[in-house]
Amino acid sequence: MTQARITLARDFTVGDVPRRLFGSFVEHMGRCVYTGIFEPGHPSADESGFRTDVLDLVRELGPTVVRYPGGNFVSGYNWEDGVGPVDSRPRRLDGAWHTVESNAFGLHEFMDWSRLAGVEVMQAINLGTRGVDAARELVEYANHPGGTYLSDLRRKNGAEDPFDIRLWCLGNELDGPWQIGHKTPEEYGRLAKEAAKAMRYVDPTIELVAVGSSNSTMPTFGEWEHTVLSHVYEEVDYISLHAYYQEENGDAASFLACALDMDHFIESVISTADAVRARGRHKKRIHLSFDEWNVWYQRGLETEDQLHRVQESGWREHPRLIEDEYTLTDAVVVGTLLNSLLRHGDRVTIANQAQLVNVIAPIRAEENGPAWRQAIFWPFARMAALARGRILQAHVTSDRMATAQFGDADIVDVSATWDEENSRVALFLANRSLDDAAEVELVLNGFRAERIVRAEVLDAPDGTDRHVSNRNGDERVQLRPLAGVDVVNGGVKLTLPALSWAVLELDVAL
Ligand code: AHR
Repeated sequence: MTQARITLARDFTVGDVPRRLFGSFVEHMGRCVYTGIFEPGHPSADESGFRTDVLDLVRELGPTVVRYPGGNFVSGYNWEDGVGPVDSRPRRLDGAWHTVESNAFGLHEFMDWSRLAGVEVMQAINLGTRGVDAARELVEYANHPGGTYLSDLRRKNGAEDPFDIRLWCLGNELDGPWQIGHKTPEEYGRLAKEAAKAMRYVDPTIELVAVGSSNSTMPTFGEWEHTVLSHVYEEVDYISLHAYYQEENGDAASFLACALDMDHFIESVISTADAVRARGRHKKRIHLSFDEWNVWYQRGLETEDQLHRVQESGWREHPRLIEDEYTLTDAVVVGTLLNSLLRHGDRVTIANQAQLVNVIAPIRAEENGPAWRQAIFWPFARMAALARGRILQAHVTSDRMATAQFGDADIVDVSATWDEENSRVALFLANRSLDDAAEVELVLNGFRAERIVRAEVLDAPDGTDRHVSNRNGDERVQLRPLAGVDVVNGGVKLTLPALSWAVLELDVAL
């Protein structure tokens, strides 16, 4: 049996839980928008064509902020195509995903949907094929109250009040050769600075995210952040990070430890941003926006190969793209990635799981059919609901496991929060061992456990294995109560089943 001891001290905190850490992403890609969140004619659709079965699941999942409209899509997108009378909107070719975009869904529809979903909007602008002018015009259209051509156009199009979008991404993955309008760090840094300036001339209150590296293995990683931030440090508030993980060649141990790579990626970007800060004698600190992350089975194919495959099937509207079916193993990994983000919550203050529905998503929906929760739904839903108050520094002494890619890793992984107002401590735990249960001792300093409010676990249901998944509405991977969790001397003792993710909520007293 694996042994682990976790110590939490009331006075040792990382900072407040940034609620935007529980963000998601809606891209005009595959079936995320069309037949995902929007399907007029579906039995559950409301008068706007929004699927209410999907909306119910989105509310249950609990994302706080949703990035829109892309992704690679945004780098060839004209925002003007998605506003005005639907019948007059142009049909366009989307080169990023080799798809026909009908533009039946655009900015107004997304704003209406986000209100119903109860989420903040994080709007990306096109710095691939477009630039400063389109960016500042979109800010004026969205945020200026009225009395100008563009703000009055918004009102004419049905939105009397400004959309008041606070959070803006200055493009998407422009370091990637696959991106429409790919740029060098110099080119991007200059453009982002000018776009940011012009957007802030229209609305000085907006928050801006500069594009960082598409992943930490990009050849330009490090240099990209340094050069870009040297240009835009004063103009932006955040630099982005993207990362997707998958199990390769049956190496489950490395996959289960991939949050170590996320830790390293985050800490490297923090170091680079702080180096630019020191060199430029800047006062403020740049925060990190991990605005695309997830498990994604790219199956060893490069983006060009994927695109080639899509191209072979011709130009279609909302084709099925990357609808990964997630297993219990993937859910445990997602739990550890969320732990990594939360543990760095003093600097990573925005994060968006990519994507929300159908496309590498916690929610699946069939056209004219059911919607359901994937296995990865649960760690996100519980953390979004229960990670409140302050992030606690968890001191962990755990048995270790060897991995081929990341060296030794703790078998038991954890993050924790303390909600002082409600006297609650929440812990999010993963057992990375495929074979062994883990005996966990939780020691609390400065407060003591009074009562177990919730103890739930996600593991392989009887007779299934780690590849079990939820399919076509049949939700086999579900949370179940975790038995045998005991309060002992103001601390807690529990046993985590092999390969599991668990959540613990405690009433504490000072
Ligand atoms: O989320 C899928 C795609 O992954 C996004 O469009 C792109 O930004 C990233 O490469």
